[in-house]
Amino acid sequence: MTDNIHTILRQMPKAELHIHIEGSLEPELIFALAERNRVELKYASVEELRRAYAFTDLQSFLDIYYAGASVLLTEQDFYDMTRAYLQRAHADKVRHAEIFFDPQTHTERGVEFATCINGIHRALEDAKAQWDMSGALIMCFLRHLSEEEAFATLELALPYRDKFIGIGLDSSERGHPPEKFARVFAQCRELGFHLVAHAGEEGPPAYISTALDVLHVERIDHGVRCLDDAALTQRLAREKIALTVCPLSNIKLRVFDCMPEHNFAKLLDAGVTLTVNSDDPAYFGGYINDNFLALFDALSLTQEHARQLARNSFAAAFIDTAAKQKYLDEVDAFFDGDQAGR
Ligand code: ADE
Ligand code: ZN
Repeated sequence: MTDNIHTILRQMPKAELHIHIEGSLEPELIFALAERNRVELKYASVEELRRAYAFTDLQSFLDIYYAGASVLLTEQDFYDMTRAYLQRAHADKVRHAEIFFDPQTHTERGVEFATCINGIHRALEDAKAQWDMSGALIMCFLRHLSEEEAFATLELALPYRDKFIGIGLDSSERGHPPEKFARVFAQCRELGFHLVAHAGEEGPPAYISTALDVLHVERIDHGVRCLDDAALTQRLAREKIALTVCPLSNIKLRVFDCMPEHNFAKLLDAGVTLTVNSDDPAYFGGYINDNFLALFDALSLTQEHARQLARNSFAAAFIDTAAKQKYLDEVDAFFDGDQAGR
């Protein structure tokens, strides 16, 4: 891979549509917050914690991810975490970020919903003011918990509905199909929220179908297992349903053995609309540009693919037509601009 494509990937304007803010907590910040809040950790040092990041599947990661989030107690903690992510994303030329947060991970520990959303949201406002970088929040329900608990979370969240734009579904996929959350998603739909769900990460293609047909989601998070079902793959392509793919996550969680085995190029060939994202960058070895570089190196993708993926990221974003056009124009100006100037 030439240096040129690396530079293009690093410098091109892009949107990130699949990032769990709790998954951006770097070990150093986990230790700093643990000290600030006098929270005891199971690990003696940053190095020891990092060594524990040897995952065998989604659940083995989630156990450590929820333990990491236990250091978050105050509004300033949520602000600092989000600020660190946004700073990193800004350096990666992310112009717009749609960020997942998992309130149940915090309210279950006695942290107020307000503490969590106000801290995260304030960091988004600062990024907009400082870098003209836009951001929006998507509140996820934890699918290993009950639908009743999701309803209770929605109730807590509604006084803050101007601070988030969408609803998602994450955590342990196997054994927790989308239809478990049919009623609460129906209510969220009536309330006018955008809807997404993790589906077909580890779970079967049928979960992608029910996320679409029962929950009525507008994008699928991950979705890479759709290729096990040819009719579903054709449907995704035909209906232009975007998948938010997270390449390094898929390798770390053993969805694929290694990057050259990733089915990203096959999905592109099948005409599926794809985007590239980091999922939980502090845990999976990289932020969005690391994901682009690893993918392009392994699968020999081209500058035309880079341009298409940058365009897809804005086209699939939950932003108004004017903002979408502004960002698509930025992409076109970048790719049509003077190559030598890069
Ligand atoms: N929560 C954080 N990252 C996740 C992932 N990759 N899949 C499901 N739930 C998650
Ligand atoms: Zn995810």
